[in-house]
Amino acid sequence: MEERSRVKKPDTMIKFQLMPGIYYVIRPMEYEDIPQVAQIDREAFPGEWVFRSQSAYKQDLDNPSVRYVVACKGRHVPESERQAMQKVPWFKRLFSYGRHLNTSEDIVGFSGFWMMVGEAHIIAIGVRNGYRQLGIGEGLLIATIELAQILNAHVVTLEVRASNVIAQELYRKYGFQVVGRRLKYYSSDGEDAIIMSTDNITSLPFQASFQQLKKDHAQMHPELFAQVR
Ligand SMILES: CC(C)(COP(=O)(O)OP(=O)(O)OC[C@H]1O[C@@H](n2cnc3c(N)ncnc32)[C@H](O)[C@@H]1OP(=O)(O)O)[C@@H](O)C(=O)NCCC(=O)NCCS
Repeated sequence: MEERSRVKKPDTMIKFQLMPGIYYVIRPMEYEDIPQVAQIDREAFPGEWVFRSQSAYKQDLDNPSVRYVVACKGRHVPESERQAMQKVPWFKRLFSYGRHLNTSEDIVGFSGFWMMVGEAHIIAIGVRNGYRQLGIGEGLLIATIELAQILNAHVVTLEVRASNVIAQELYRKYGFQVVGRRLKYYSSDGEDAIIMSTDNITSLPFQASFQQLKKDHAQMHPELFAQVR
């Protein structure tokens, strides 16, 4: 299969700031992100992550029907530091100084989905412990829905553990409704999965509600800003 660049894809990017000096960017996942994503996966989905091994992630990134985005924590570079950087010779910036500025990019969450005939099926959304309830999971869902729209999806669907009320709350907030149940879906413990689905995401009512939710998300986190490519 032809390898695609993960960097240049015209995907959705949301950029926001949660606290002074720290910013978070949601961007397409790259190969280098796999170890951190796999770690969050293990943490967020104990018992299930074995199905998404590091090699499975690599296969997914090579699969044009599968898309992953990650939320990264970075450090805001103060203007003084930016100006100082300009004085450093370009070759030093390239090989050392610039690299130093990029080392603080930690991944704090991820989301993935696969596309099949107009349907975007969410594989997983996970946020690192200690970074939950900050709006990052919601930001990842917003990015996922926007990316699904760009890829001409009509609906977004998923399976979620029957007991996972936190995730179900998040999905309900974005118009997902329960459309079915898969009995004993999770082989690790035999728990049922709830199947949830949106209405047509291109419809006016969905769009009106989605745009409002996006605005609300930005307002609830006034220090955050969203920039969608
Ligand atoms: C589900 C998950 C991704 C949510 O991420 P998060 O960053 O903590 O969520 P946010 O802060 O963006 O919250 C967004 C919405 O999620 C719901 N939510 C989040 N935490 C909640 C909690 N503790 N109780 C109830 N609802 C909650 C709410 O609807 C919330 O909206 P609100 O702030 O208007 O109430 C995160 O809890 C997680 O990684 N869980 C483990 C993995 C998992 O279960 N993934 C989903 C199955 S695919």
